[in-house]
Amino acid sequence: MKIQVDFNHMMTEFIGEEEGFTREHIEALAGKIKDSHQRMLKKSGSGWLEWRKLPMNQEEVVTKIVRTAEEIRSRAEAFVVLGIGGSALGPLAVQTALNHLHYNELPTERRGGPRFYVLDNVDPERVAALFDIIDPAKTIFNVISKSGSTSETMAQFMIVFNLLREKIGSDYAKNIIATTDAEKGNLVKMAREEGYTTFTIPAGVGGRFSELSPVGLLPAAVCGIDIRELLAGAAYMDKLCQQEDVFRNPAYMLGVLQYLAMRRGKNISVMMPYTDALKYFADWYAQLWAESLGKRTDNNGEDVFAGQTPVKALGTTDQHSQVQLYVEGPFDKVVTFLGVGCYRQEVTIPKVFEDLAGIAFLGGHTLGQLIKAEQLATEYALMKAQRLNFTVTLPEINAFTVGQLIQLLEIQTAFVGELLDINAFDQPGVEEGKNATYALLGRPGYESKKQELETRPLK
Ligand code: PA5
Repeated sequence: MKIQVDFNHMMTEFIGEEEGFTREHIEALAGKIKDSHQRMLKKSGSGWLEWRKLPMNQEEVVTKIVRTAEEIRSRAEAFVVLGIGGSALGPLAVQTALNHLHYNELPTERRGGPRFYVLDNVDPERVAALFDIIDPAKTIFNVISKSGSTSETMAQFMIVFNLLREKIGSDYAKNIIATTDAEKGNLVKMAREEGYTTFTIPAGVGGRFSELSPVGLLPAAVCGIDIRELLAGAAYMDKLCQQEDVFRNPAYMLGVLQYLAMRRGKNISVMMPYTDALKYFADWYAQLWAESLGKRTDNNGEDVFAGQTPVKALGTTDQHSQVQLYVEGPFDKVVTFLGVGCYRQEVTIPKVFEDLAGIAFLGGHTLGQLIKAEQLATEYALMKAQRLNFTVTLPEINAFTVGQLIQLLEIQTAFVGELLDINAFDQPGVEEGKNATYALLGRPGYESKKQELETRPLK
């Protein structure tokens, strides 16, 4: 079951000469594509591209994760991820894609595992609300932080740690699992001292590229997802994306056309799944795309600003809000539709109100037919208005196709980073904010940052 990438609506034959691209536009980038491809291949599996090998090299880790997940499923009522950004969005996206949309509300025997929550904010109301509905003594807390120092995650962890000690006394460590770097940061030190079950995020796997590491695999396995199948899908896609020929490599084709669009000032990238199951994939992708490609670089002393602003939309819901702008607003967007070949459930619209012609035509169709017609109609409206758009179709949403999608979008993002000649794996803008928070709250070592902050113009 292979994901289909349809780029017809990026090309002149469909979009017209003014906005569309031709084979010649793509071929004109041959040298750049070749160089980028070679850099990708050379770095693949090492440095910051270590994530590329995750689908292929984790058998031992997977065995430990599956064993741990089974044990958690047999004893826990709830499983809570404490993490933010790359340590939270992937687990949420995969859980929503592959499990029942009301997973937490299902009866325990149908769910087969604990309820699942991702606490990716420090809004005090949200944190307090979660403690209203879980019993900490029957909850496993998976604290995920590569750096082991992110203020939000560590603050949550400190609260949980204290609470567990109060509620269950000396056995509290059994309710904590740490996922972090092998050597660096406070979390790994604490985990060793306290004896938590620990999973390692490999050194060259950055937060937003970590979904197929224990960051995403443990929460997925705890929720009953077949993680071997997820990795098999990713490995399958990785193989397809090792080809230099852009016309055979789906990630490169998506990347090259996005790059060409960026060069023409298309500064906004919309992701619009036509299924609630992939709704949080648009969130995950927004981080991947924004944090990887939104960079200032120095080109011989001149600042160059790269990146596209990601926008999340949901079909059909956002047809009734954002699509007006996409069809008639500024020519500054590329829309990526995520479609589904066959929905996992079907609902038929009954033949009622047959004397009302304005709605009777719906009777007898399925909701699957309706949502697909809506997607096609939106793609058509955009094409007619000469608006660039892609469609990525999952024949069915399952662990294998979701694994493919993750690897496809990660490779696309890294490849565009190479085409743009930027570092897609750092995030100095995010670090600046993290450091300013440390300084404001008095972390030792951040005194000069505090002084710098104190000289800021006051509001
Ligand atoms: O992609 C990234 O690197 C970031 O979004 C991080 O995942 C996020 O800042 C959380 O960092 P950490 O896992 O170190 O707590």
